[in-house]
Amino acid sequence: MAADLAGKVAFVTGAASGIGRQSALAFAAAGAKVAVADIAEEGAAETVKLIQGKGGEARFFRCDVADTNSVQAAIKSVVDAYGSLDCAHNNAGILGTPGDFDSYDEALFDRVIRINLTGVFLCMKYELQVMKRQGRGAIVNTASVAAILASPGLPSYNASKHAVVGLTKSAAVGYAKAGIRVNAVCPGFIDTPMTRHGFGPIDVEARGAELHATGKVGKPEEVAAVVVWLCTDAASLVTGVALPVDAGWTITT
Ligand code: NAI
Repeated sequence: MAADLAGKVAFVTGAASGIGRQSALAFAAAGAKVAVADIAEEGAAETVKLIQGKGGEARFFRCDVADTNSVQAAIKSVVDAYGSLDCAHNNAGILGTPGDFDSYDEALFDRVIRINLTGVFLCMKYELQVMKRQGRGAIVNTASVAAILASPGLPSYNASKHAVVGLTKSAAVGYAKAGIRVNAVCPGFIDTPMTRHGFGPIDVEARGAELHATGKVGKPEEVAAVVVWLCTDAASLVTGVALPVDAGWTITT
């Protein structure tokens, strides 16, 4: 990969699986030391192994993004271990079981919001404290096409992803003069465990082909490449955007 993040430190949540795992691999390929953050220890260990197998530097940091203390402790441990925090990909998220709005389970609604929205807020809060001290940093939040389009049957997911874009814009403007850029990616339909298991039995390739103008489902590494680019100096003029990475889905709907 051309992107040069040699010597930088990247923190990736949800790095045990799917988009987060590929993002962790892409940061490592660009030369960054990678903090693999997740609640899923087995998957995270596999991500660390994959990076180390390619000669990269990575460590697992247990982090439940829904828990303030866990987030604060994980980010402190990353800075203690690696000395800085240059890039952060706040990516951990859940879909929530699809259901009708008028009977949607309220505890599930709260849980999705806690992880997808409050989780991103908590990660940004503690990342920004470090980055402000350093006078530099780049943050990318994983939103979704569900931040742009309606997602019938997924009210909390839909709301959480719209709100992640609001958090992104708020921090982008608030911290631009501090040398910190904050962006979001809005992935389309990506072949990950979330899409394979979250919607019941579906043909992921066929659904992706239907939604994307390219006629192909997205691969998590195609999202990861954009995330890493947004964290490089090549994107120095880019802040506060919610960038569709969706193979034309949102312009054809
Ligand atoms: P995935 O299910 O493969 O990975 C999600 C990861 O988040 C898992 O490793 C899981 O353990 C972790 N996670 C869940 N709750 C957590 C918590 N409380 N604390 C820390 N980690 C936690 O899903 P995928 O597809 O890779 O999703 C990643 C992100 O991309 C999510 O935010 C999702 O909403 C978003 N996204 C995915 C799309 C897709 O088509 N797969 C499309 C648009 C957005």
